[in-house]
Amino acid sequence: MTHPWQRTAQGANLLGPDGSLAVTIFEEITTLANRHGAINLGQGFPDEDGPAELSRIAQQAIAQGQNQYAPGKGILDLREAVSGHQQRFYGLTPDPETEVIITTGATEAIAAAILSLTGPGDEVLTFEPFYDSYGAMIGLSGATHTTAPLLAPDFMPDLAALERSFNPRTKMVIVNNPHNPTGAVFPESVLAEVVRLATKYDAVILTDEVYEHLTFGPRHIPVATLPGAAERTLTISSAGKTFSYTGWKIGWLSGPAELVAAARTVKQFLTYSSGTPFQSAIAAGLRMEDSFFTDAAATLQRKRDILSEGLRAAGMDVLTPQGTYFVNVDTVKLGITDATALARRLPELIGVAAIPVPVFCHPEGAYRTRSLLRFAFCKKEAVLEQAAERLATLAGKL
Ligand SMILES: Cc1ncc(COP(=O)(O)O)c(C=O)c1O
Repeated sequence: MTHPWQRTAQGANLLGPDGSLAVTIFEEITTLANRHGAINLGQGFPDEDGPAELSRIAQQAIAQGQNQYAPGKGILDLREAVSGHQQRFYGLTPDPETEVIITTGATEAIAAAILSLTGPGDEVLTFEPFYDSYGAMIGLSGATHTTAPLLAPDFMPDLAALERSFNPRTKMVIVNNPHNPTGAVFPESVLAEVVRLATKYDAVILTDEVYEHLTFGPRHIPVATLPGAAERTLTISSAGKTFSYTGWKIGWLSGPAELVAAARTVKQFLTYSSGTPFQSAIAAGLRMEDSFFTDAAATLQRKRDILSEGLRAAGMDVLTPQGTYFVNVDTVKLGITDATALARRLPELIGVAAIPVPVFCHPEGAYRTRSLLRFAFCKKEAVLEQAAERLATLAGKL
């Protein structure tokens, strides 16, 4: 018998060959990084706090007694701020009463959307590589996870393969834009094709846009702004990445009232409600001036460039990301064909840790990314410069 936890683990590639729970490569790399005092560029979280002003608002909220359950769908001020933010940046106007809910990070929004709308007999389509929580939640729902590949060097999908991946059983297609782990930012042409196919097969579009403000050149285009998309699209975002407060776990989900109500029904019994004192702080964050958002992207772009330069100098092909916290490299030029084996050696070899991209693929799709490694650059510039120095010694040590 297969238990739901096993389908969850299998969906995220966490089951060992004997069916037991495997140590995740993330845990393994973190353990190795700690053992060897390595700079850990495996983990996707900033090593500095976000705006002090937001921290002060959260602290005041605690001091003033905002410490009991928030309303299940989130405090009105934050739902209004989410709606106002979408209007300011994208011209979207979700109704804060019926078309927006606050969740415990994007993670809960992903879980609630998938578990409320898909189940056994359905197919849920994602790009591959894919962020692991999609595979885990599709597994828990009992649906079948299908994928369409993103291909290096620019990680754009082959649109013919995308079309072949849809069929009448496709209940949901998940878009992640900007895309983790590849750093791709999809142009309108790709998104329009997703909308056309989802409409043809009557699938819901779930779009995870947690890196919406972290793009380096291309403009972020929310799927929901495309013609014909809004009526079938649930959009997810989160405060973690934009405001560098990943530990506060405040996310949100917006879209047509009936789809949001479905997700809310499940969210109600996952956590009921989400971190009360953080909600007013994030409402203030979403109302910050445009310059905050453009400065955050510019700062991150500088970090991307520092690390990319180091990776290039180390002799790897840098697959320059257009968004997110992550840069991928192809290690084949160094004579490496198995990036997973290299990732296990890197902490001891040079004191830097990274994640092999095949962990974001199903075993049968992993061959496409066999020689790729993902490095996070959401770290202090001095840390990235030190990592670059260490990387420069790699070729000599292989
Ligand atoms: C693509 C993507 N979606 C969702 C999440 C999770 O967001 P949160 O911390 O708000 O749950 C992450 C975090 O790494 C992510 O990369």
